[in-house]
Amino acid sequence: TPPADLRRALLAWFDARGRDLPWRRGPEGARDPYRVWVAEILLQQTQVVRGLHYYDRFLAAFPDVHALAAASEDAVLKAWEGCGYYARARNLRRAAQHVAAEGFPSTYDGWLALPGVGPYTAAAISSLACGEARAVNDGNVRRVLARVHGEERPTEAWVQARADALLDPARPGAWNEAVMDLGATVCTPRSPHCAECPLAAACAARASGHPETYPAPKVR
Ligand code: ADE
Repeated sequence: TPPADLRRALLAWFDARGRDLPWRRGPEGARDPYRVWVAEILLQQTQVVRGLHYYDRFLAAFPDVHALAAASEDAVLKAWEGCGYYARARNLRRAAQHVAAEGFPSTYDGWLALPGVGPYTAAAISSLACGEARAVNDGNVRRVLARVHGEERPTEAWVQARADALLDPARPGAWNEAVMDLGATVCTPRSPHCAECPLAAACAARASGHPETYPAPKVR
């Protein structure tokens, strides 16, 4: 199936069924960078459903980057309570002090240079808040792409290459969130809901009759 058809199908599904989440407000590709950034840091190790409460609480305590930059470390750790991995909160505060002085980064490389921001997070934020064409690559993306393409043993390089090739350059942020949502709600690890999947007709794993076996468990 040509990339253009996959993009059309998945983005139409996302426009109709994508989750309504508090960091998804604002213009596509130009969301409030602070709200996106805090969400992406929180979601590094916390599931969306669990994270919603913590997100609202943190945003209420520190509504913008200046509030976060001016806060004491104790206050930030307190607002982070329950989320775990407190290094994330310390890095957020440190990065906020940098951003309060220099402004928000406007590129992938700029985001990557901030404490606590790795390749996945930089790709997510730069696509969502800056409109940059960067494909996210994590376990959900790996599973979705392995299944669509019928690749049982995808390597890191394979996943990144397919993700880059499929990313919709016209709507990179929406594309990334569409893959995230599909992986989280439809193309789930154990029992994928193929009847609801916008990519089912194009999916090699679906055609095999046992989509849940893609990708094969990692052996080491
Ligand atoms: N997980 C990580 N980033 C996310 C986002 N922007 N939306 C939903 N789930 C996510």
